[in-house]
Amino acid sequence: MSRQTFTMIKPDAMKNGHAGAIIDRFIQEGFRIVAMKMTKLSADKAGEFYAIHKERGFYGELVEFMSSGPIIAAILEKENAVSAFRDLIGATNPAQAAEGSIRKLYATSVGENAVHGSDSNENAKIECDFFFSSLERF
Ligand code: CMP
Repeated sequence: MSRQTFTMIKPDAMKNGHAGAIIDRFIQEGFRIVAMKMTKLSADKAGEFYAIHKERGFYGELVEFMSSGPIIAAILEKENAVSAFRDLIGATNPAQAAEGSIRKLYATSVGENAVHGSDSNENAKIECDFFFSSLERF
């Protein structure tokens, strides 16, 4: 599982027309697409996915935003996928993200930050299983 991570292209990047460029970047950086789907989270499902942040002040805002429009969910594969992907997307806050990172290029704020990436191998497994059955993985 350390070769796989989970990502979502968030509603802001979808609405702003960046999904194609972002997926192309995943491929250019050597990630293999194991699974991918476009879907829309209900508020309940978004709340469940981000339950770890329930006590944080931004939780309500996060759930509302993540259920505001379609997203693209994917499982990506590469050596050391979790850390390699976090390097590619950059810091949570785009103002602190490295030049050329996906969030630097496409995120608008710390809340509407274009993409999600798993923060550990353990969470990557939980998040991949949240969205994809074994029949949807290639
Ligand atoms: P993500 O990597 O998906 O994981 C948790 C999300 O919470 C994060 O990206 C941001 O979208 C959101 N988030 C983190 N910190 C804040 C904040 N200070 N204000 C609003 N949203 C935040």
